[in-house]
Amino acid sequence: MGVNYQTVLWNRNKKIYDKWIILGMLIYLLCFIGITLITNPETSIETLIIRAFGTLAIALLHVILVIGPLVRLNSRFSPLLYNRRHLGVSMFLAALIHGGFSIFQFHSLGNVNPIYALFTSNMDYGSLTNFPFQVLGFFALIILFIMASTSHDFWLKNLSPKLWKRLHMMVYLAYTLVILHVFLGALQQQPSLWSISMLSLGFIIIAGLHIRTSLIESKTDKTKTEDIVDGWEYVCDIDEIPEDRAKIFIVNNERIAVFKYDNKLSAISNVCKHQGGPLGEGKVIDGCVTCPWHGYQYLPHNGQSPPPFTEKIATYNLKTENNKIYVHPEAMAEGTEVNPVII
Ligand code: HEM
Ligand code: FES
Repeated sequence: MGVNYQTVLWNRNKKIYDKWIILGMLIYLLCFIGITLITNPETSIETLIIRAFGTLAIALLHVILVIGPLVRLNSRFSPLLYNRRHLGVSMFLAALIHGGFSIFQFHSLGNVNPIYALFTSNMDYGSLTNFPFQVLGFFALIILFIMASTSHDFWLKNLSPKLWKRLHMMVYLAYTLVILHVFLGALQQQPSLWSISMLSLGFIIIAGLHIRTSLIESKTDKTKTEDIVDGWEYVCDIDEIPEDRAKIFIVNNERIAVFKYDNKLSAISNVCKHQGGPLGEGKVIDGCVTCPWHGYQYLPHNGQSPPPFTEKIATYNLKTENNKIYVHPEAMAEGTEVNPVII
């Protein structure tokens, strides 16, 4: 958690995650090169590198984009999210090799700057079938560079989680640019039915998963209570919350999570201080609410991260009557001690 900055905060899980990334990338590259050399033996080494790394980058981009919704739909996918940033940096490196080799092969032999040549060698910007598609890949690469270079927690803390998150939402713009880059590129060469089908399938899967998760989230947002007694809002019955887990509600336009643990109930903000992860989808481990995304922890009765960490989130007052749980909608200041309700 954010107590101080070290260049790299390695642990066993991160190392295993990274080994799988490297292994997966190597297997993909070997398969791609093997299949291409068998089916198309006259492919030049430059084209092989450009295609192998371009397709690797877009495959990784798809994996990155499906992890978020998959975790929201099933917490068994959570380990994939844990070190997603390293996946992002690996994807950028693959895209950089692809873009770098393309610029070298197609734009570095003239007497003008290769980047200038990238923008000017084909000026058919008004045409759909002859559009200079490399330019779209270039802008996508710039976005991926900004994201990869600000991926460390140092930037998360200094830019503020809100701004950092906004910056990293640009991955969707990069994805759109890459899709257009590949589709328009395919129009100018022999369009491969295989690549177009895979891209379309990828798009359908990504869009489908995102739509499904947003429908589920909007359902949570609608669990707005109408039952208000003396300013206390009824949220649910005690036995609706499983032990060491929470239910999420919208109270006063804020998402809150009501946790049940050790015969007690506590309510805290649902928004993790790290990257806004949904705390109410996590569980209580060793007495702490543990964020399902990267494991930040908070004490349920005061919303504070256990020492030496310093993160704090808002807490809420609760009361129970006849097995019913009521929340006082006014958030207490972040880190405020609130006595848990004993059940
Ligand atoms: C400076 C940036 C970039 C340049 C100059 C560039 C250039 C190219 C070129 C020339 C091709 C056609 C290659 C061929 O068919 O022989 C291509 C295809 C492709 N590019 Fe890029 N690109 C860039 C960025 C990106 C990025 C950021 C991604 C993905 C994250 C990407 C993914 C792809 C893919 C998947 C293909 C299709 C490969 C295939 O059909 O086998 N490109 N790019
Ligand atoms: S969002 Fe990263 S730990 Fe909660």
